[in-house]
Amino acid sequence: MKLNAILCGCGAMSKGWLRAIRETPDLAEAIEIVGLVDVNRAAAEKLADEFGLSAARIGNDLAAVIAETKADIVFDVVIPTARFDIVSTAMRAGCHVLSEKPMATSLAEGAALIDLAAETGKIHAIIQNRRFISGVRRLRRFVESGAIGDLTGIHCDFFIAPHFGGFREEMDNVLLLDMAIHTFDAARYVAGKKPLAVYCVERNPKGSWYRHGASANATFEFSDDVVFTYRGSWCAEGERTSWESQWRIVGSNGMLTWDGDDGFKAAVSGNEPGLLHGFSPVEVPAPERENETHGHASVIASFVEAIRTGKRPETVSSDNIRSLAMVFGAIESAKTGRRVEISA
Ligand SMILES: NC(=O)c1ccc[n+]([C@@H]2O[C@H](COP(=O)([O-])OP(=O)(O)OC[C@H]3O[C@@H](n4cnc5c(N)ncnc54)[C@H](O)[C@@H]3O)[C@@H](O)[C@H]2O)c1
Repeated sequence: MKLNAILCGCGAMSKGWLRAIRETPDLAEAIEIVGLVDVNRAAAEKLADEFGLSAARIGNDLAAVIAETKADIVFDVVIPTARFDIVSTAMRAGCHVLSEKPMATSLAEGAALIDLAAETGKIHAIIQNRRFISGVRRLRRFVESGAIGDLTGIHCDFFIAPHFGGFREEMDNVLLLDMAIHTFDAARYVAGKKPLAVYCVERNPKGSWYRHGASANATFEFSDDVVFTYRGSWCAEGERTSWESQWRIVGSNGMLTWDGDDGFKAAVSGNEPGLLHGFSPVEVPAPERENETHGHASVIASFVEAIRTGKRPETVSSDNIRSLAMVFGAIESAKTGRRVEISA
């Protein structure tokens, strides 16, 4: 039986969702888009036209469209400030919800949505597409294998200069809230550790075309004495890093670097006598499961599998809140100039 889905929020990102579903045979088979909801009805109509969804119910009231279509699931692609109401409405009406990141605009709202999911017995998971890519899966597999010994540090550099225009150039904490969450989440996943505390220096550098917070430098303490550092700027002109960041992973017996694209280099300690012992290269095997490397499509598949089997989705909200807590911890540290403990 197909799952009846409503897509709520028919802006720029919604096309990525619909393309992922259309281009992935298993998802196209499993999901029927029965409704499109947007406060701007014209946006929903335009999306229906573009994706040939003429049978889908169109509306601007999510509760009404859920009732009319008897939907099983809601795909939430609204702007973050509308998220809490949309997700609450959907779960109270009996739908499982897959939300875009960030899962909430505050930790209190995030916690309330986790409680509501437990109370209603619905699955509530978050799109964290940038951990579902080949490179990040490969890093995790490599770290887990113990090939460079025990993990001690992860260091990510993110320096790009996109000229987006629009809401990003007007918002507070733009890099931390809108982008860094992807790298924070990926680092947490690769490390397999719990974030415990953060110290962060955030700036809006000279020459920035954003209103606030286009650069951030954060040091996180993870469990088991692992340190994660992030240096990022969204107004760094010149030769840029990858959108996935440039990574250096340090273990007790070796290091791995990843350029955020196809370049992986790993080596362990060599046997040369003297000051530096040299190094011996080691292989970085491809990810184990290819189906986990397709961004949005992989997250949607994990959500559908959770509904079908009861298996916990990898990006279930009760886990994803830890990535959100990293972001809010960094923001609080930047504001107060203090080290902030992360409690989620
Ligand atoms: N995962 C990623 O890589 C990625 C990339 C870009 C954006 N996003 C996320 O996707 C979400 C949407 O971003 P976007 O770029 O599509 O924004 P957008 O502004 O283009 O689209 C948002 C849509 O939501 C609609 N909307 C607002 N309030 C609503 C409400 N209460 N009910 C119904 N519809 C409502 C708006 O009218 C608009 O059409 C954000 O959370 C953003 O962070 C994720």
